[in-house]
Amino acid sequence: MPATVVVGTQWGDEGKGKLTDLLSKEMGMVVRYQGGHNAGHTIVVDGETFALQLVPSGILYDHIVPVIGNGVVVDPLVLLEEVDMLARKRIDAGRLVVSGNAHLIMPYHHELDRLTERYLGKNALGTTKRGIGPAYADKSSRVGLRVQDLLDAKIFRQKLDVVLKEKNAILAKVYNRLPLAADDICATYLDELAPRVAPMVGDTVGLVHDALGRGEHVLLEGAQATFLDLDHGTYPFVTSSNPVAGGASTGAGVGPRYIDRVIGIAKAYVTRVGSGPFPTELTHEIGELIVDRGHEFGTNSGRRRRPGWFDAVMLRQAVRLNSLSEVALTKLDVLDTFETVKVCVAYEADGEVFHHPPYHQSIFHRVTPIYEELPGWNTDLSGATELGDLPQAARDYVGFLSEQIGVPVRLVGVGPGREQFVRFAA
Ligand code: GDP
Ligand code: IMO
Ligand code: MG
Repeated sequence: MPATVVVGTQWGDEGKGKLTDLLSKEMGMVVRYQGGHNAGHTIVVDGETFALQLVPSGILYDHIVPVIGNGVVVDPLVLLEEVDMLARKRIDAGRLVVSGNAHLIMPYHHELDRLTERYLGKNALGTTKRGIGPAYADKSSRVGLRVQDLLDAKIFRQKLDVVLKEKNAILAKVYNRLPLAADDICATYLDELAPRVAPMVGDTVGLVHDALGRGEHVLLEGAQATFLDLDHGTYPFVTSSNPVAGGASTGAGVGPRYIDRVIGIAKAYVTRVGSGPFPTELTHEIGELIVDRGHEFGTNSGRRRRPGWFDAVMLRQAVRLNSLSEVALTKLDVLDTFETVKVCVAYEADGEVFHHPPYHQSIFHRVTPIYEELPGWNTDLSGATELGDLPQAARDYVGFLSEQIGVPVRLVGVGPGREQFVRFAA
């Protein structure tokens, strides 16, 4: 049975957690394929909020096998804290399976993420300071420690000794910091954390393919989003992994032929956390209203998200990059009180009109959006359960977006609650 990918199409926080939870009813397995605890995926069930960072968003269903794929970077302390948090909420996350090939986030990764950002000063990327970039950099440099190394203390220590020598030299000579002690790291990672992580470690590629072979539906859950992608995003203001649908193949070990459905998730407007270009950004009252009504503050960092109008140029590119088969649109209810709503349908720069983002960053940084203004609906949508409950102006807005981006919008979110989705197109 084929696999489905859920991928963010903007700059993150589109509602991947909520959509993954909704789709999990029909799935057998949910696999996170990249990122780490820079993610914050929210699910709201009967007024109770679950904010997940590493654990796949299918975890709330007992029948789901939740998997952390090889493409994820794992801080084992955060992982166990999350497992404990879920246990307190009566969710058994002990059934989680973590790829032995996933890379570990180490204490020096956190430290270097913070220090690099400080060093960059006004050019800082605004990372989540969770050690994500440094951990992926070590993976590429082939000096990373992996989850499987937690199962072999001798190898863990050998690898740590090699890499720590260089990290401590950088900490001391570049950043004037005290060195980290290998003994302390081993005491935490091997003595405290490894015994609890070990039972979760497994061959996730084998597991995923066994499930596909049995005819089960497998959902591949992305973190971050298309325009935070290391290759396709607004580099350097990106994360250090590949959130695009292609990343699901490498990050879960599932070849592209197994994936037959790619659902892009988009907000009915756009938000971005951290630095970087943002053509439709709203810096005045309308933006404040969106932040206020949409509670646009980071799920776990608490940082204010930058708001903007819906950008169809980005979405058209996201359709290409991810081969989207459909879009799920969230947070339509946030626009309930607007007299009119704007949609960016193209960019303009130096007299040229762009229907897809210009590849050169210098042009992208100075594009101005060309907007279409549509009537608002001035109706509370939060109680809508079916298409007929949506006023014509809201339907027209969604229809217009769908037309602009060239793929159907199949689901529309009208509130944070688990069931607050309206089926829009078959
Ligand atoms: P993710 O990172 O893509 O999983 O998204 P986040 O969980 O970080 O951010 C999405 C936020 O919007 C969360 O607080 C959700 O509870 C909330 N949310 C999701 N869908 C809707 C919706 O349709 N309407 C409203 N008002 N809130 C939503
Ligand atoms: P979810 O999965 C929104 C942003 C950071 C920063 C940039 C690089 O919840 O959508 P990093 O720590 O990854 O090196 O930071 O990426 N960022 C996110 N923004 N949602 C996320 O995840 C994000 N994960 C990283 O703010 O701009
Ligand atoms: Mg989030």
